[in-house]
Amino acid sequence: MTTTTSDIETAAGVLRGGGLVALPTETVYGLGANAEDAAAISRIFQVKGRPPSHPLIVHIGGAGQLDAWVQDVPDSARLLADHFWPGPLTLVLRRGRRVPLEATGGLETVAVRVPDHPVALALLSAFGGGVTAPSANRFGSVSPTTADHVRAELGDAVDFVLDGGPCRVGVESTIVDATGDTPAILRPGGVTREDLEAVLGRPLAVPATSTVRVPGQHPSHYAPRARVVLVEPGQAVAEAELAQEQGHRAGVLVPPGFAGNAVKAHAVVEVPPSTAAYARGLYGFLRELDEQGCDLIVASLPPEEGLGLAIANRLRRAAGPRPS
Ligand code: TXA
Ligand code: MG
Repeated sequence: MTTTTSDIETAAGVLRGGGLVALPTETVYGLGANAEDAAAISRIFQVKGRPPSHPLIVHIGGAGQLDAWVQDVPDSARLLADHFWPGPLTLVLRRGRRVPLEATGGLETVAVRVPDHPVALALLSAFGGGVTAPSANRFGSVSPTTADHVRAELGDAVDFVLDGGPCRVGVESTIVDATGDTPAILRPGGVTREDLEAVLGRPLAVPATSTVRVPGQHPSHYAPRARVVLVEPGQAVAEAELAQEQGHRAGVLVPPGFAGNAVKAHAVVEVPPSTAAYARGLYGFLRELDEQGCDLIVASLPPEEGLGLAIANRLRRAAGPRPS
């Protein structure tokens, strides 16, 4: 996993030439392109199989660069950027003129963040511009948290893969609508609601879902191949065993102490006791259950506080109705 200075230079050259680079961040791996290159951005959508109306996140090298990419930054947004960047927080603000509409799905707002990963920051510094990057997975599926996940899923469709080891946070950034005076969470993620409110010194707003379009928030997303059903922790083993009897290959994903003697289940993952470790492992667990051949995953939600909010959000979406 050693990334050399020459790898960084190569990757920066690929971006300058209009190519795509997979890059590690602290949350998940991203599929990056020059944020000002509309043609390169359309290739991202092609490779991911993602509808072009779904906006991307522009990654920048530091909070000091924010004003080069957005306009009208409220004090509350500045406060959050200064406190949480580099880190797993994305701010949605009014689009600066250099951001092409291809990156924002036609919106007049743009999502921006500074990733907290030495390889991502080295790339941004060598490249000098902004890098638009969605998670480096096919549309709707589980986000990659290792370079191997990226290679397995996207293969030759990416021009260069920077390997920065396994991602430290494991779930995507928290997306905050920061256009108004009181920010609102659009997608829970690596920075908790509690931490945001502590820094702001007041509660966040409830998002106005009617005015802010939040793609990536439709029911089925972050989904493994296996169907996911959610049950109370105490029922997971019994549910999985029942499904086995009905001919399924059922895996269970449960909190510590709930796996019991799930001898009849096809595969069992008992999640780590800390929510940070659970978040870090979540997408890997889902991939692992897929790889073990499960066609059904019986899972239970963690308590919805701190990072548990992001984990529960991803599991709910993984369990959402699939396009037929
Ligand atoms: O941690 C992350 O955020 C990762 C890493 C690679 O940075 N990126 C990521 O990107 O999760 P992606 O494309 O999978 O999800 C970005 C989401 C979109 O689905 C959309 O919900 C939201 O960001 N978004 C982007 N621009 C927006 C905008 N202008 N208004 C509202 N939501 C926006
Ligand atoms: Mg994604």
